[in-house]
Amino acid sequence: MKIGIYPGSFDPVTAGHFDIIKRAKGLFDLLIVAVLKNSSKHSLFTIEERVTMLRDLTIGMEHVKIDSFEGLLIDFARENRAGYIVRGLRSMTDFEFEMQFARGNNRLAPELETIFFVADIKQSFVSSSIVKEIAMHGGDITEFVPDSVIDKIYTKYGKDVTR
Ligand code: PNS
Repeated sequence: MKIGIYPGSFDPVTAGHFDIIKRAKGLFDLLIVAVLKNSSKHSLFTIEERVTMLRDLTIGMEHVKIDSFEGLLIDFARENRAGYIVRGLRSMTDFEFEMQFARGNNRLAPELETIFFVADIKQSFVSSSIVKEIAMHGGDITEFVPDSVIDKIYTKYGKDVTR
């Protein structure tokens, strides 16, 4: 069984993340979208909220499972018998970081391969951080996140944005 893991903070999930889930799922018998329980990072959404948003978004997608993890990604991958890590690349800055990350993971777990998806040009500048900054000031985030999460983000910032 070919199992892939798409790890991330997903705080919140963006249109770019969702695009990668849709494109990657066909490559595997099971794609596990794994949300990091990051204790050090201050997150806008709780781990439960992030998992729920992703579950709602992927309802009806066969072979896609949403889970969370803490600690090392390679340990989570081994526990789940995954052979592949999926990551998205938006820019050269991503590339530098992702190379290091992939090499580190491969060094710790040589059986794990990382597969990169080049982000769609429309989403090439979209990140969870940029989405949060725009939403915080009441800007329009409709093109950058899936419809089902738009209001959840505005609500966090106490914004009642009518579109
Ligand atoms: O969405 P992000 O914040 O870019 O995702 C980063 C993530 C969660 C994939 C990465 O920080 C991670 O896997 N952290 C777990 C700790 C770990 O395994 N680090 C790798 C050391 S080589």
